[in-house]
Amino acid sequence: MCGIIGYVGKRPAVPILVEGLRRLEYRGYDSAGVALASPGDIAITKAAGRLSVIEQRVDFTQPQTQGIGHTRWATHGAPTDINAHPHVGGDGLIALIHNGIVENNRSLRTYLMQHEVQFESETDTEVLAQLIAHFYEGDLEKAVRKALHEVSGTYGIAVVCADEPDLIVAARKGSPLIIGVGTDEHILASDAAAILAHTTQVVYMGEGEVAVIRPDSLRLTTLDAIPVAKDIEKVEWTLDQIELAGYDHFMLKEIHEQPEAIENCLRGRIDVKEGKIHLGGLVDCARELARAKRIVITACGTAWHAGLVGEYLFEELVRVPTETEYASEFRYRNPIIDDGTVVLGVSQSGETTDTHSALVEAKQRGAMVLGIVNVVGSTIAREVDAGVFLHVGPEIGVASTKAFTGQLAVLAMMACFLGRRKHLSPTAAAQFISALAKIPDQMRQVLDNTTATREVVKEYVDCDNWLYLGRGYNYPAALEGALKIKEVSYIHAEGLPAAEMKHGPIALITQGMPVVCIATDGIQYDKIRNNISEVRTRGGSVIAIATEGNTEIKEMVEHVIYVPDTIEPLQPLITSIPLQLIAYEAAVLRGCNVDKPRNLAKSVTVE
Ligand code: AGP
Repeated sequence: MCGIIGYVGKRPAVPILVEGLRRLEYRGYDSAGVALASPGDIAITKAAGRLSVIEQRVDFTQPQTQGIGHTRWATHGAPTDINAHPHVGGDGLIALIHNGIVENNRSLRTYLMQHEVQFESETDTEVLAQLIAHFYEGDLEKAVRKALHEVSGTYGIAVVCADEPDLIVAARKGSPLIIGVGTDEHILASDAAAILAHTTQVVYMGEGEVAVIRPDSLRLTTLDAIPVAKDIEKVEWTLDQIELAGYDHFMLKEIHEQPEAIENCLRGRIDVKEGKIHLGGLVDCARELARAKRIVITACGTAWHAGLVGEYLFEELVRVPTETEYASEFRYRNPIIDDGTVVLGVSQSGETTDTHSALVEAKQRGAMVLGIVNVVGSTIAREVDAGVFLHVGPEIGVASTKAFTGQLAVLAMMACFLGRRKHLSPTAAAQFISALAKIPDQMRQVLDNTTATREVVKEYVDCDNWLYLGRGYNYPAALEGALKIKEVSYIHAEGLPAAEMKHGPIALITQGMPVVCIATDGIQYDKIRNNISEVRTRGGSVIAIATEGNTEIKEMVEHVIYVPDTIEPLQPLITSIPLQLIAYEAAVLRGCNVDKPRNLAKSVTVE
């Protein structure tokens, strides 16, 4: 997520802004910048890369005592110097930093270009800066309000103006902002981590509020200029706690971020009313995609498990032969790429060497190559013919959680997007999209009831071998659950299609061995119920993930973790959450380094 800092007061602003951005680095970013306001001038220093680049370029002796700073996690536009924030409007009259997404940025850009505005970058943020400048008539606060009335999407912004240099106007809609209250100074930030060094007295901006901030005054209103009274509160957290937002580990934080992350992933892309999917990154190649005769999904690790769900989704909704290949195998086995083959790489980091090389190989053999990536500007994102970003924000924990469910959500949208260009009916698409729209709230439901998961893990945490079973769409979820517990708790676990048990692995079952069975409602429920009996009669202890309301299963297994019902193609988005929590709790109870498991890297950029 992007980081925002602003300062108005009596002290030199540069050290305060840079130190504040340093405190926000944990949020993940790929470019940074500062803007310093003085009468008639705004000095901008910004660059792609780490904050150290800014520290080398900015003059720390500059006397300005007000300014804004930003660390950007790219969503629209690659992480380049030009796309870094702050962005300016009105030939340097206005400077703005932004966290969020301006969904109608294309139409606003067109409007401004019709009014002779020239754009430098490809970002939605520059559109907002130019729009404020367009409406500016000597009153920054008024211009900001007018511009925000035209915007749809989310924003946390801070704006400075060369004609009113002792003023910051901030506004919040969907991206938190907090204001530190000092003596003759105020510090605006995305979160308290950037403020704590100066004050623990803060005002939390509410949704839809606008703040007019001067060294000796702070005024809060609604977007329609109705005054809002706010108490000054004391921040109780330590810095460490704040970076983790009160969670013990980034993995747990990111597990709990999934409802919001999936909302961000779906935002502006699903139209429940019309039953349509909008994937801007695929529009230019939609026709060619619809003619695909075969789809190959290639990835590694968790991304491969997501790809396997994608295989089932594409074959069900698009009715095109689809196969999922481990990238490391695909690239070396002289793959058959014929006319009409589309190769889709799935990669959170966009830097995994095996996946990148597999896509290079496919492209050289004439395939259209697509990417589903989280990191904007990453190697894979830059080199594919087209693709879709996850928009789930930076994933800091080594074990992938919100990126996995983000990949599932994007694959579901892609399958529906392509399905509608083949045989998927508008009614079927509308039902699918309606179920997809409910997923974030259903995730919240699961995350509100985690006690059962913790109890299960306490009972079996000393068992060194677990099995995970699933059928249909939940077979890849079982594979992912086994990988999660392996990589963070070092427990050996194996995921299997449930029916495969009797072809050998059932020999592994010993008395009390934990066997996680994903037994949610669906066409194969009766089959997995039989598999549960096979495990139980051999002494295995079954932990079932079942659909809420299924009371019969309680009599058949040792533990049940209930999840809300959804259509089978979307069940892994829900069933994977208890499996993530089981892995997390096991790692904590076994004293493992949850966020940095031994031998693992967040992105495997070697073969
Ligand atoms: C997932 O928990 C692992 N950290 C690992 O399997 C990961 O999914 C794999 O290395 C692929 O990474 P990517 O998505 O960045 O390409």
